[in-house]
Amino acid sequence: MDEPVLTSLGPHLGGRVDGIDTGAALDDATVAWIRDALIDRKVLVFPGQKLDAAGFHQFARRLGSLQQHVLRKYRHDDFPELSWLTNVAKDGSVDEFGVIRATSWHTDGSYTQDPPMLGILYALEVPSRGGATIFADMCHAHDSLDEPTRTKLAGLTGLHLHGAGPGGDMYDGSLADDQEEGFRDAVHPAVGMHPLTGAKLLYVNATHTRKFAEMETGESVALLEGLMAHATQPENLYTHDWSVGDLLIWDERSTMHRGAGDYPPTDRRIKLRAIVQELGT
Ligand SMILES: [Fe+2]
Repeated sequence: MDEPVLTSLGPHLGGRVDGIDTGAALDDATVAWIRDALIDRKVLVFPGQKLDAAGFHQFARRLGSLQQHVLRKYRHDDFPELSWLTNVAKDGSVDEFGVIRATSWHTDGSYTQDPPMLGILYALEVPSRGGATIFADMCHAHDSLDEPTRTKLAGLTGLHLHGAGPGGDMYDGSLADDQEEGFRDAVHPAVGMHPLTGAKLLYVNATHTRKFAEMETGESVALLEGLMAHATQPENLYTHDWSVGDLLIWDERSTMHRGAGDYPPTDRRIKLRAIVQELGT
């Protein structure tokens, strides 16, 4: 196989990968290459992949240990470590409200005490127009804060609860009554550290960050909204416009994301998802 090629897609994050067939059995050197590229670019796009559920599962499993989706109804019947991101029901009907789901800024699993490392999506059907996913670089968001705000944040702790942030009503669905994540705050420092690089990162999001432990709710929400505005300035974003066959991996620790939510609501949209809890060694 030719050497893979990484092409930057923006100033801070986003990279296109050519020369890797994600459906093939990958050798250790290729897996290490993907991991390095991911740490460098935070979001990687592999266009033109041809995968079935088994092939997608095999690829995701090569990157690390997989976590089942917190919402049980989305899990794949044959591969419960995979889940569907779709607006098409089993009877073929299209959920027209799917278009607004997950359109507020979030980091997957921030409402858990041990959030996952990576998200992976593979596009099977895409809308006729719109439907992008937008990513923000939370390392650069941190580093570009003014000094007083950085100092203030260094002493703050975010309380995260599923969908309980100021933008949480745009999120996708509710947890089952017996799921602990539905009623217990996960506690994360507002400034986190990337487990692989040691880089500082802003670890708050509009969907799941309910408040800062050290502040009243009103003051917390005002600060959070200011941080969201700062983190989502255009130069800090990568917008991915989907094509069928795109496989996309993102670093959950150093980014947040949202759906653009601007596609025709009756258009079908089907993706397969995997969640990597820990990278393999
Ligand atoms: Fe998400």
